[in-house]
Amino acid sequence: MNGASEADERQMKPAPQRRLGPGARSLIPRREAPQRWRRLQGIALPSRPMSNVTLEWTDALSLKQPQIDDTHHQMVDLIKELAAVLSTDADPLPAFQRLLEHTIEHFGMEERWMAATGFEPDNCHSSQHKMVLNVMHEVVRHATELKDLEPMHIIVGELSQWLPAHAEMMDAALVFHMGQVGYDPATGTIEKPRATEASGISSCGSQGCN
Ligand SMILES: [Fe+2]
Ligand SMILES: [Fe+2]
Repeated sequence: MNGASEADERQMKPAPQRRLGPGARSLIPRREAPQRWRRLQGIALPSRPMSNVTLEWTDALSLKQPQIDDTHHQMVDLIKELAAVLSTDADPLPAFQRLLEHTIEHFGMEERWMAATGFEPDNCHSSQHKMVLNVMHEVVRHATELKDLEPMHIIVGELSQWLPAHAEMMDAALVFHMGQVGYDPATGTIEKPRATEASGISSCGSQGCN
């Protein structure tokens, strides 16, 4: 006998999830939206109230790897384009979709290189990509189903801070590793294939990744 009555057990059950249909009001009150948005997504992004994008492409962002540098430069431009549209009354969804599609290809490219050079599929660099894409898809859902653009205003500022930090830590570690094994992404050849065979890499290769 466990001592718990049926009434107690009913009380202990979690409340059913509320399903919101198209056009429903957001569950995120405006006053505390940024904090709650981060909690809801489980992502530790820097605290910043609303979109205020000052990101610019400079040599300081370069990792001296042409494909990654071009891709990051394009992402900076797409973030700025989205921020510009968000400061007007125009529909920002097309600009956000362009950024999302570019980000999917950007992360896919890096993950193909990781797979080719000995990273495990569930390494922490890929996990961070996945979290960002999950949040971006959730932003689209809020914009389309809930008619709520506030998460989009928030994420454009967050991404403008996230990209330089991610590039400096995780992408730089990937570029370093590619250099170590002699990987040429243009041809797919590896000079030192044995270096990728010892064991799959589950970290991102950076000090900041556990
Ligand atoms: Fe990247
Ligand atoms: Fe990355």
